[in-house]
Amino acid sequence: MIKLAPSILSADFNILGDQMAETKRAGAAWAHFDVMDGSFVPQISFGNPVLKSLRKNTDLFLDVHLMVVNPEQKIRSFADSGADMITFHYEATDDPGACIAAIEETGKKVGMAIKPGTPVEVIKPFMHRLDMLLVMTVEPGFGGQKYIPASTRRIAEARRMFDEYGLDTDIEVDGGIKRDNVDIVLNAGATVIVAGSAVYSGDVYENTKAFADHFKEWEAAH
Ligand code: DX5
Ligand code: ZN
Repeated sequence: MIKLAPSILSADFNILGDQMAETKRAGAAWAHFDVMDGSFVPQISFGNPVLKSLRKNTDLFLDVHLMVVNPEQKIRSFADSGADMITFHYEATDDPGACIAAIEETGKKVGMAIKPGTPVEVIKPFMHRLDMLLVMTVEPGFGGQKYIPASTRRIAEARRMFDEYGLDTDIEVDGGIKRDNVDIVLNAGATVIVAGSAVYSGDVYENTKAFADHFKEWEAAH
């Protein structure tokens, strides 16, 4: 099933809870939560207290994208704060296997992310242990950037690798996804679609519903 994960990075934080509820009412099941530490990426976003507070008021699946150095040290606290899935960056750690083990220990779903310049083959030793691979389709750090066209063949390559091993692991795409290019990533094999500015700029309900309806149509045709 194709899932939409609206990235709250582009939300209006004055009314964040209400806007998230709108996405749910319009058919979203996930919320994408971008943690930035000002070190792995230039900007600082938000962290545990915000996640904890959102968890109390939503049953959306909370998809936590850790753009932080030394993710192994942060996993337990984000699990305790209410994450449903924790995704760390392959590039942020010397020991991706240990990060996966740390997430497994919390009982949360395991995600690993790769930046646009990281060869897709690096996922090979870890494929069987992932619930989701996040293929970044922009350089991580900011919302509202343009989709990097070379991402399309990277998504397809990851999908081929999972297929070869008989795995139907979710592939998430993140960055620059809009209504007018979403078919490109769906056709390449993505199953979880992050959309920040495309959902949270303008009418949140209508934007979400347009994606949700489109996914239904796409699935019926495939
Ligand atoms: C970028 C973040 C994204 C961001 C996407 O580093 O990981 O989740 O919010 O925003 P859009 O959809 O506007 O490119
Ligand atoms: Zn993200």
